[in-house]
Amino acid sequence: MPQRQRYLFVCINRRAEDNPKGSCTARGSEEVHRALKEQLAARGLAKVEARVCTSSCLDQCSSGVTILVEPDHFFYGRVTVSDVPEIVEGIANDRRVERLVLTAEDLEKG
Ligand code: FES
Repeated sequence: MPQRQRYLFVCINRRAEDNPKGSCTARGSEEVHRALKEQLAARGLAKVEARVCTSSCLDQCSSGVTILVEPDHFFYGRVTVSDVPEIVEGIANDRRVERLVLTAEDLEKG
């Protein structure tokens, strides 16, 4: 299998319901992961452009659902299933979805 242009790491960490930190899974990250995989495959992008992987906690819990994009090295945050088509479109056109990119301020909060 060839190396892809990008790897998208989707946090699927799960914490107890009553944990004040919350978790990406509680915010729907497994559905986001599934939708990304399906839509990239449907566009023929999964084998060349982007591989979607699950990840443990990426330490950006307050901005979950969090996705780390490598090798570009930025985070998408507060991602929902409805954002997935735009993310896939961005991969197809080699551009980021700026409204979802975590800011320095977001990263500071963790
Ligand atoms: S639980 Fe997803 S970044 Fe921490």
